[in-house]
Amino acid sequence: MLNWDNMFATRSSRMRASEIRELLKLLDRPEIISFAGGIPDPALFPDQAFKKAYADIFDSAAVNSALQYSVSEGYKPLREWLVGQMAGLGIPCGLDNVFIVSGSQQGLDYLGKLFLSPNDTALVTWPTYLGALQAFNAYEPAYDQLTPGGNRTPGSYREAAAQKGGKVKFAYLSAEFSNPTGETVDREGREKLLDLADELDIAVIEDAAYQSLRYDGESIPPILALEIARKGHINETRTIYCGSFSKTLAPGLRVGFIVANAPVIRKLVLMKQAADLHSSTINQMAICEVAERGFDAQVAKIRAVYSQRRNCMLAALEKYMPAGTSWTKPEGGMFIWVTLPEGMDGAELLARSLESAKVAFVPGKAFFADGSGANTFRVSFSCANETMIEEGISRLGRLIASEIG
Ligand SMILES: Cc1ncc(COP(=O)(O)O)c(C=O)c1O
Repeated sequence: MLNWDNMFATRSSRMRASEIRELLKLLDRPEIISFAGGIPDPALFPDQAFKKAYADIFDSAAVNSALQYSVSEGYKPLREWLVGQMAGLGIPCGLDNVFIVSGSQQGLDYLGKLFLSPNDTALVTWPTYLGALQAFNAYEPAYDQLTPGGNRTPGSYREAAAQKGGKVKFAYLSAEFSNPTGETVDREGREKLLDLADELDIAVIEDAAYQSLRYDGESIPPILALEIARKGHINETRTIYCGSFSKTLAPGLRVGFIVANAPVIRKLVLMKQAADLHSSTINQMAICEVAERGFDAQVAKIRAVYSQRRNCMLAALEKYMPAGTSWTKPEGGMFIWVTLPEGMDGAELLARSLESAKVAFVPGKAFFADGSGANTFRVSFSCANETMIEEGISRLGRLIASEIG
């Protein structure tokens, strides 16, 4: 047997398959009610609109450019459409501030590559999006805890980073309906984060994957909008906004985008040239056509369905979860985050739940950069109908109640 570990770069050592993924393979079993996946409901995909968009492309001269190589910045009409969308969010920008990526996940990988030398510190919330940790891990960073709205001094972050042999490089967060907790950072928290970033002289990576999925509550300006309001122009800002069509239109086309100051965009374009030249031309064209024709209607449709499911899951949690547990009350997104009594373990609970209650969820520990959070788990309501939610949460509630005793 060859010992590949001796040949691999050190950066590969943090790339490990998780035990949880192994457990979640059992989800295909029909008797399991799953709240584990964080994916959109395929029944809500605008499939007919895509069918028409691809047919239109193939029935016109556009097919030649659709099947051809294209520019690394991304398909210009799509970037133009995004400039209009961003203006509506309070983010005035130009074409040279918009860059198309193959899913916002690729954006996170590029940003890790652009900012992190080994041992540099990335500030992330505890918990944070697991895919961000996986993307950043390849660049061998250290992590420190970001508490938006919290009062830790810039000096304490600097000192902690120096002790780990590097500098603080960026703060990464999902300010809206985060994966995994569903929580939102309020305006004051966003402003305080911008103060901290200015004092530390670091970038802010704003992951806006779920931003369109608000079901109630007041909308809050994106962090990038707040920073433009302070500094006058996007090219003076340090916030890098990562957006996605995955949760609104379809994830399989792999089209996401980054909106940021022009110097960062120029670097990212060079990075893309080296990595994959450009995102799929034809998929960008199809996304553009579907977005131009009916983005708002599509978003309204999915909001209506997901908000009902969220309401149903919150009601079921209220009804069936035993005393000693608590959970978040998200105003949007796809997730609710449950905290078990101290000492209980979400991963052990999952193993028993798959055995007896036949309900799946994602144990929380993997979302914590420091490996804490064992007594937490994430449930998603995006793909479950109301009967499944009622039945699944009641079974889970009974199991947890029996374990608490
Ligand atoms: C918070 C967050 N960011 C980014 C992504 C990646 O999305 P995509 O690469 O499909 O745009 C996801 C996907 O689940 C996510 O939950």
